[in-house]
Amino acid sequence: MTVNSDGVFFLTGKDFANAGSASSNLKGILEKRGIPAEVIRRASIAAFEAEMNVIIYAVAGMMHYTITPETIKVVLQDMGPGIPDIGLAMQEGYSTAPDYIREMGFGSGMGLPNIKRNADKLTINSVVGEGTTVEFVISLERSGR
Ligand SMILES: Nc1ncnc2c1ncn2[C@@H]1O[C@H](COP(=O)(O)OP(=O)(O)O)[C@@H](O)[C@H]1O
Ligand SMILES: [Mg+2]
Repeated sequence: MTVNSDGVFFLTGKDFANAGSASSNLKGILEKRGIPAEVIRRASIAAFEAEMNVIIYAVAGMMHYTITPETIKVVLQDMGPGIPDIGLAMQEGYSTAPDYIREMGFGSGMGLPNIKRNADKLTINSVVGEGTTVEFVISLERSGR
């Protein structure tokens, strides 16, 4: 019986043709494990938003996931511009997305707030000019939502 599992997806900045495929693959993995649909829904939304931020803002990155009987942990690490003011970036509606990104339907400034809302724990670390690490955890015990 599989108790823990983990894996990684590699992400390329501006690769809009494959955007969303890491979070969609992760969703499939969670479904195969028989994780409750509501937990999968929250994990998929958070993973998609974090994946899109790497595609939109960074040069390259990776999404690493760890699934245990207790938690789903997802870490997105990128090489990119970094986030100068994380508090500002967390505000609903704040976005630095350029027009061509908005024309594709992204850049509403709701991604990071959505991750926060859907995850049980969110940690963001960023160094300007180097990159950003976004880590979120969703609890599988007592899904208290
Ligand atoms: N991985 C990242 N690298 C650099 N900047 C980021 C990253 N993720 C988010 N940001 C910054 O935080 C802002 C808010 O992100 P988000 O809430 O997802 O909204 P949106 O992507 O719609 O702009 C972005 O506009 C961008 O300035
Ligand atoms: Mg976003």
